[in-house]
Amino acid sequence: MRRTLSRVLPAMNQRSAPGDQLPLSGAVPSAADASTVYADVGGDATIRDLVDRFYVRIEADPLLRPLFPPDLAQGKEHQFLFLTQFFGGPMRYSEQRGHPRMRARHLPFAIGTPEAQAWLSHMLAAIDETGITEPSRTKMRNYFSYAAMFMRNQP
Ligand code: HEM
Repeated sequence: MRRTLSRVLPAMNQRSAPGDQLPLSGAVPSAADASTVYADVGGDATIRDLVDRFYVRIEADPLLRPLFPPDLAQGKEHQFLFLTQFFGGPMRYSEQRGHPRMRARHLPFAIGTPEAQAWLSHMLAAIDETGITEPSRTKMRNYFSYAAMFMRNQP
């Protein structure tokens, strides 16, 4: 697990530009932090719930919905596989999709600060709706706050 996380995290080891409006926690997420979240929150069922709630919000968001394909089912499944793996669960994403390369996979989509901010607000809300408690809540918030900014490919 450590091996996979260390393949994902170095690519995110960049600081944001000054003046960013995202609610950054300040902490650069560590692989050690992320690796216990899957088990701590309750495994597949909880992450499935999180992804479902997140996608309900994406579907209703007029800014973000057009970036996503008409059928959300496959992306939703990939999101589930990625998040369970990233947070210390089974390595299903890499087995099925190869190296996560998250930033590269997002290059086809125009993601600026407004889009990253909106994406993040939905994910943070979904974490709370799912009832994820500390310390996992803060670990997840740290990771998503950081990663959403990193996914930007335009202003
Ligand atoms: C915390 C940061 C993020 C993570 C961890 C993340 C994760 C993912 C994952 C795992 C996928 C599926 C990749 C695959 O097909 O294998 C995906 C797809 C996608 N993401 Fe993100 N993402 C993040 C940020 C964003 C942001 C800020 C946007 C902006 C709107 C975005 C928009 C999309 C879109 C449009 C897709 C394609 C969905 C589809 O093909 O159905 N993502 N993301």
